[in-house]
Amino acid sequence: MKFLVLGASGQLGSEFALRLGNSCVALSSRECDVTNLKAVLEAVETFRPTVILNCAAYNLVDSAESDFVSAFKVNGLGVRNVAHAASRFGIFVVHFSTDYVFNGKKEEGPYTENDSPDPVNVYGRSKLFGEEFLREELPHRHLIFRVSWLYGRGRQNFVWKLLNWAGERPYLKVACDEFSVPTSTRTVVDYTLLALKKGLTGLFHLVNTGFTSRFEWAREALKTLGLKKFVRPAYMAEFNLPAKRPGFSPMSNGRLSGELSVEIPHWLEELRSFLPVAFNR
Ligand SMILES: NC(=O)c1ccc[n+]([C@@H]2O[C@H](COP(=O)([O-])OP(=O)(O)OC[C@H]3O[C@@H](n4cnc5c(N)ncnc54)[C@H](OP(=O)(O)O)[C@@H]3O)[C@@H](O)[C@H]2O)c1
Repeated sequence: MKFLVLGASGQLGSEFALRLGNSCVALSSRECDVTNLKAVLEAVETFRPTVILNCAAYNLVDSAESDFVSAFKVNGLGVRNVAHAASRFGIFVVHFSTDYVFNGKKEEGPYTENDSPDPVNVYGRSKLFGEEFLREELPHRHLIFRVSWLYGRGRQNFVWKLLNWAGERPYLKVACDEFSVPTSTRTVVDYTLLALKKGLTGLFHLVNTGFTSRFEWAREALKTLGLKKFVRPAYMAEFNLPAKRPGFSPMSNGRLSGELSVEIPHWLEELRSFLPVAFNR
């Protein structure tokens, strides 16, 4: 398979580029802006990949509330452009979405692919548009993986922010009423490539196993990296953030692990083994 990675300087895009080496062409936002259809068509025509890995996204959840045009352009129209180009040249697309398509009110357990999306913020709505555009433009040649609380080698993630705060502040305050699944970029790359090898198509939740609160995630990440800092549990409402968050948005990876006949590592086991690698400690 020959891969084209879009959004290649982000944390997931760069993990794919690292893993795939010479079998991929990896383009940053400067080299291929997904909001520019002509640029996407040119890239696809030039490189003629078998698979496009669309890691490009507008991920600033709070900024999206006031800059919804940028969020919709990248997360909605950008995906439509990628799908359109793929459709014209007969190419398969893998796209990444989010647990923020859900409202966080489900009580019976983690979200499955059968649950109806109902985003509570602009970012979540823009990502849902992206999913819908992809299904519409390329109904039989796509994989959509919803991921959550992604961490890896880049800086656009919670663990990186946590380390910066730990260096500046006497103690940390982290939400104890926000639940999801910390998921490593390594896990996402591993199971995306396996799913492609096995010929899967459609929608899957691709997360590590289990779930936790942001507070516990912070404590475990600091412990894993050998940092001693007091973490005080706080309620989300205390932070007065512009964007509402779904309080409980863990997703189950049951459909994907079943189709692949694998056990996807538990979030804590993966955190303890991957974080020191990703953060070079
Ligand atoms: N991070 C999370 O916690 C999280 C949670 C749930 C879902 N996801 C989803 O997982 C996927 C990967 O996220 P990530 O954490 O790797 O994000 P990331 O580190 O923020 O990377 C996103 C990349 O997209 C690029 N980009 C932005 N606008 C673009 C445009 N117009 N054209 C081309 N590229 C553009 C960015 O380039 P610049 O650096 O040049 O702006 C950046 O390199 C995304 O679909 C995201 O929505 C992430």
